[in-house]
Amino acid sequence: MGKFLITGGTPLKGEICVSGAKNSALPIVAAALMADSPSRLLDIPVLRDVQNLCEIIRRMGCKVEEKGNEILIDPAGIERPEADPDLARKLRGSYYLLGVLLGKKGWARSSLPGGCNIGNRPIDLHLKGFKALGAEMSIDHGIVEVRAERLKGNRIYLDYPSVGATINIMLTATLAEGTTIIENAAREPEIVDLANYLTVMGARIKGVGTDIIKIEGVESLQGAEYRIIPDRIEAGTYMMAAAVTQGEVFVKNVLVEHVKPLIAKLKEMGVEIREEIDGVYVKGNGHLKAVDIKTLPYPGFPTDLQSQMMVLLTQADGTSLVIETVWENRFMHVDELNRMGANIKIDGHSALIKPSRLTGAEVTATDLRAGAALILAGLVAKGDTEIRDIYHIERGYENIAAKLSSIGARIRKVK
Ligand code: EPZ
Repeated sequence: MGKFLITGGTPLKGEICVSGAKNSALPIVAAALMADSPSRLLDIPVLRDVQNLCEIIRRMGCKVEEKGNEILIDPAGIERPEADPDLARKLRGSYYLLGVLLGKKGWARSSLPGGCNIGNRPIDLHLKGFKALGAEMSIDHGIVEVRAERLKGNRIYLDYPSVGATINIMLTATLAEGTTIIENAAREPEIVDLANYLTVMGARIKGVGTDIIKIEGVESLQGAEYRIIPDRIEAGTYMMAAAVTQGEVFVKNVLVEHVKPLIAKLKEMGVEIREEIDGVYVKGNGHLKAVDIKTLPYPGFPTDLQSQMMVLLTQADGTSLVIETVWENRFMHVDELNRMGANIKIDGHSALIKPSRLTGAEVTATDLRAGAALILAGLVAKGDTEIRDIYHIERGYENIAAKLSSIGARIRKVK
């Protein structure tokens, strides 16, 4: 197991480059199986989650070649449309294989996603969508199996704009007969990215990015070359690292449109922000104003930036309120931050943050974004911080220690 050792107090300065979006890569790598010919995917981040998904696909009989940030997938040769249960349990994104293989083969099996520790991760809305398209399903011993003689388009209303359910239903509907309408669909940029890739492969999708998506089923899809979008959550994490250390950083390879909610909040806090064509320039100006945050589905403030933003709020000049509406248990970073001297009180889905000086400590990452928050806390804390269980962090941030070191952070990985 690795650890990060961080010495705080250095303002970050320089240019840092954002990698491809993890939450685009997972559905897009899975979607490559829907084609009848190979795809070449570009800007794919080298992350454990993506590697695990590629291994699951290999064990189904497909050829998958990972060459740095490029992945070649040949969908021919799927022997059994079943995801390896052990690997699938480790990886939330593996359930996209259900939508892909149901659409392509009319049958799929995978283990129910492991309950991530930010809350239980139901897939009832995914299954509601599969059923509406004509599938039957069974769940036993943690394995979910979906099958359909014939998939027919239908109108599906999502009780909650679930990212995963929107993606899975869109995947299956692409090869179903007739028209599918998804109402109250999620609008995240990664869903638009997937729809763009499917469209290049020959799918007929309209309205993605709004809450009504219309999919006209087609007979087949052809493989394609596709470059995925940059990771807006990685970008936001580095923008906040610059702000919390009162640094001056150009965060490169950012689709500014996708980080608008964060830019708005950072400006409210008094951070100097300049939007460039291919990135965002962030400059701290000595202090941070307290603001209130409420996480919402896109285009609201992203839940995946909530824990990192909380670190900034510990350094703000007043009391802030954070309300987490997406996940029921996404405050695990609070205990660790309070061990570093933060003054955060939780009451249900709300947290009250008062200003405090942070001091280095031994802390543990509990999930991907909580771990990222602990890095930000270590960068601003007085003294040394040691972060354990950093595999959570490395699941979602390509080369994070090297990238932060290149802009002056005193962070290194030790075994
Ligand atoms: C995606 O998860 C992201 N993961 C999450 O990012 C992100 O936090 C989330 O979307 C919200 O933006 C990936 O893309 C791999 P949801 P997903 O379905 O699809 C409830 C990260 O840090 N729900 O939109 O699982 C669910 O309980 C990760 O990169 C149902 O009730 O999120 C939750 O409360 C963490 N029934 C809410 O919807 C369902 O069938 C949001 O879930 C599905 C979801």
